[in-house]
Amino acid sequence: MKKASGIGWSDVESASRDELTALQTQRLSHTLWHAYENSRFYRDKFDQHGVHPQDFQHLEDLQKFPFTEKSDLRDNYPFGMLAIARDKVQRVHASSGTTGKPTVVCYSKADIDMWADIMARSIYAAGGRPGDMIHVAYGYGLFTGGLGAHYGAEKLGCTVIPMSGGQTEKQATLIQDFNPDIIMVTPSYMQNIADELERQGANVQQLNLRLGIFGAEPWTEAMRNNIEQRLQIQALDIYGLSEIIGGGVAQECSETKDGPTIWEDHFYPEIIHPESGRVQDDGASGELVFTSLTKEAMPIIRYRTRDLSRLLPGTARTMRRMDKITGRSDDMFIVRGVNVFPSQIEEQILAQPELAPHYQIEVFRQGNLDAVKVSVELATKCPQAVREQSAQQLQQRIKAIVGISAEINVGEECSIPRSEGKAKRLIDHRRF
Ligand code: DLL
Repeated sequence: MKKASGIGWSDVESASRDELTALQTQRLSHTLWHAYENSRFYRDKFDQHGVHPQDFQHLEDLQKFPFTEKSDLRDNYPFGMLAIARDKVQRVHASSGTTGKPTVVCYSKADIDMWADIMARSIYAAGGRPGDMIHVAYGYGLFTGGLGAHYGAEKLGCTVIPMSGGQTEKQATLIQDFNPDIIMVTPSYMQNIADELERQGANVQQLNLRLGIFGAEPWTEAMRNNIEQRLQIQALDIYGLSEIIGGGVAQECSETKDGPTIWEDHFYPEIIHPESGRVQDDGASGELVFTSLTKEAMPIIRYRTRDLSRLLPGTARTMRRMDKITGRSDDMFIVRGVNVFPSQIEEQILAQPELAPHYQIEVFRQGNLDAVKVSVELATKCPQAVREQSAQQLQQRIKAIVGISAEINVGEECSIPRSEGKAKRLIDHRRF
C-alpha cells in the first residue's frame, strides 16, 4: 500500500478509508473461511448459527456471525480453538482469570511476527524511535505484556531492558543507572516505581525518561496528569487483550493524544449494546467487540471484550480511535441502584493533591444495605493534620459527583497493597 505522507511506522497507516475497507473486507472473508475450515469450534458454531463464510460479502455481513465469549475459550481449554496443527504453534500465552482455569492463547510464527510489527508501530506512534532505550516493566511470562513490548521494541531498533514486574527497588535503581528514554508498564505500577524513585531521592528532572507507554488496566485522565507531572514525561495509552493478540491492539498517537488508534488493518472493531448485542453506530457507547483479520493459530471472530468504550473517527491516522476505556462491565458495581466504576472514584481521589495515587474500594453488605469503603493514603510529606479534613472532602466529592455515600479510610503510608502489575482496585465482598 502506498505511503501518502510518511505518517507512522508502516505504510498502511497512510491508507485511505476506502483502501482500508477493501483490505478489511478481503481479510475478514479470508479469516472466516480459515476459521470455518480449520477450527472444529468455529465450524460447529457457524453451523449451529446457520451461517457460512460465503454469507460474508460486505463488512456489514459480519453481524450475521455469532459472538465468541471468554467462556468459549475456557470450555475449549487449553488448545481446542486452534486452527493450525499443534506442532506449528510457536508460543503460548495465558491470562489468569479471577476464577478457574486461565484463558490460553496460541501464536504461529506469522502471528508473532505480526504482533512484533504492531508493537513496533505502537511504540513509534507513541513517540519512540530507533535507538531509544526502553525499560520494560510489564511482567514477562504467560502474561502478554512483557514479551509483546520486548519483541516490538527490538523490531523498532530500540535497546531493551527486559526488567519484567517486581523488584521495585531495583527498578528504580536501574532507571537512574541506565537512564532509559521510555518506560512500558502498567500505570498503577508506574506510581509504585515513582514512589520508590522519590524514596531513593532521584531527581526526575535529571533523568532521560521522556515517555511512558501505559496500559493493561483502566486509568483516567486524572491519573495521566498525575504521572506526567510527577515524572515529567508524556504518558500515552496502549490497549490490548490476550484473546485478540496482547498489547498493541490500539495505541494512542503522540501527535494528538486523544485516545488509542485501533490498528484496523489487523483488528476489526464493533461496538455493541451490552444487553441486546445489537451493533451500535460509531460514537455510541457500548461494549467493544473485535475480530482478528490476520491471525493464523487462533483466529477470533466477534470476541466480546466486556470493555466499555466508543468508536471515534481517526485523527492522527485514518484508522478509527477508541475512547479511553471507562471500565469493564465486570468491574462496574451497583450500590443502592447507582452504577459505579472504580475510575469515577479515582478521578475524585486524584483531584485532592494531598492524597497519594493509590486506592482500593471495598463493597459489602451491611444489614440489608450496600456499603462502600474507599481506602486511600496521604501523599508522602503531607502533614497528618489534614487527614480528617481530607477524608471529609473526599466523602463529599464522591457523594456529589459519583452519587454514593462512602466511608473513607485515610490509612498509614503503604497500608494499601502496591501493584506490581495490574492493580486490584475493587473488592466486592458481596460476590462471595
Ligand atoms: O492486558 C494486554 C496488554 C499488555 C495491554 C500490555 C496493554 C499493555 P489481558 O491480560 O488479557 O491483556 O487483559 C486485557 O485489560 O480487556 C481491558 O479490560 C484491560 N486493558 C488493557 N489495556 C487497557 C487500557 C493485556 N489501555 C484487559 N485501558 C482488557 C483500559 C485496559 N483497560
